[in-house]
Amino acid sequence: MKKVVVVTGASSGIGLALCERLLSEDEELHLCLACRNLAKAEAARVTLLSSHPTAEITLVQIDVSNLRSVFQASRELKQRFERLDYLYLNAGIMPNPQLNLKALFYGLFSRNIFHMFSTAEGLLTQDDKVTVDGLQEVFETNVFGHFILIRELEPLLCHPDIPSQVIWTSSSNAKKSNFTLEDFQHVKGHEPYSSSKYATDLLSLALNRNFNQQGLYSSVVCPGVVMTNLTYGILPPFIWKLLIPFIFLLRFFINSFTSTPYNGTEALLWLFRQKPEFLNPLTKYHSLTTGLGHNYVSPQKMDLDEETAEKFYQNLLDLEKRFGAIRAKALDSRS
Ligand SMILES: NC(=O)c1ccc[n+]([C@@H]2O[C@H](COP(=O)([O-])OP(=O)(O)OC[C@H]3O[C@@H](n4cnc5c(N)ncnc54)[C@H](OP(=O)(O)O)[C@@H]3O)[C@@H](O)[C@H]2O)c1
Repeated sequence: MKKVVVVTGASSGIGLALCERLLSEDEELHLCLACRNLAKAEAARVTLLSSHPTAEITLVQIDVSNLRSVFQASRELKQRFERLDYLYLNAGIMPNPQLNLKALFYGLFSRNIFHMFSTAEGLLTQDDKVTVDGLQEVFETNVFGHFILIRELEPLLCHPDIPSQVIWTSSSNAKKSNFTLEDFQHVKGHEPYSSSKYATDLLSLALNRNFNQQGLYSSVVCPGVVMTNLTYGILPPFIWKLLIPFIFLLRFFINSFTSTPYNGTEALLWLFRQKPEFLNPLTKYHSLTTGLGHNYVSPQKMDLDEETAEKFYQNLLDLEKRFGAIRAKALDSRS
């Protein structure tokens, strides 16, 4: 039976490179590109078909920062498929990032220099905004929209006899210090991206606790530092190009500078090959690249606790209840 794989944010960067690698791994897949912009999704499909002409690639439109769109996409997926084997939750944003030059300068002369470069901790702040659903955009895009997608797709993901995998593109920028249960949308802080990625890690842990017995397994990945539209928001492409020699040198000391989307997908692809029952829910899988360009995966224990994860999960279930009317309208077959 063909495996069915859905990838959100498949139109560019890491998501598109992942699709390419998944098809090279198993050309028999049914690959569904879940993207907000159908023109970009179609262009991605054409690119993928040029290297894998016989592949079965379909599209579904989804804007994970808009719950009406998430409910409609879920309805479409439930009409098309009886089950999903893999759901890659990769779409993500870091809007208007600002580099903290003072922190960068001090970091350069501190003992934390390698840690600073590999996690960007303390280096980046972002301007968040509120979506049509009245939620913080970074939280809704990176976490809540995907959470609702999982909830809606439970019937396709939960089959105790055939395990399914939910795989999140998280980040090593996920920091406990930037997340609180009281302000889990990060309304008050200036690092919503870091908060959202920590929230992702907590949610993955809670999903394992609540769904493993039903056959659903969740894992998180850090792709490393990858040159994509997201990083081009931090520094323009020409600056990154100027930094390339420095980055290649740095790779001999910090293997998290994976740099290319292809390299960044190493851990995402590695998880595709694993039996999820044997994975540790407290582990984040990091894509890494050596100074000589060899890709590998490093499992690293996350700084999470079960109690906070469960409370956060309950908070998300409570928040979900607020959107019952939007759900009913979106699922109305006439809409
Ligand atoms: N690049 C890095 O160094 C790095 C490091 C750690 C983690 N990550 C994570 O990797 C993931 C992929 O990012 P990337 O680096 O590949 O950046 P990217 O090229 O900007 O890709 C982001 C993808 O997410 C999609 N997306 C954004 N907002 C969306 C929404 N509201 N609904 C549906 N899709 C949406 C984008 O679609 P459009 O094409 O329509 O914009 C695009 O396909 C993100 O979760 C990011 O946080 C990246």
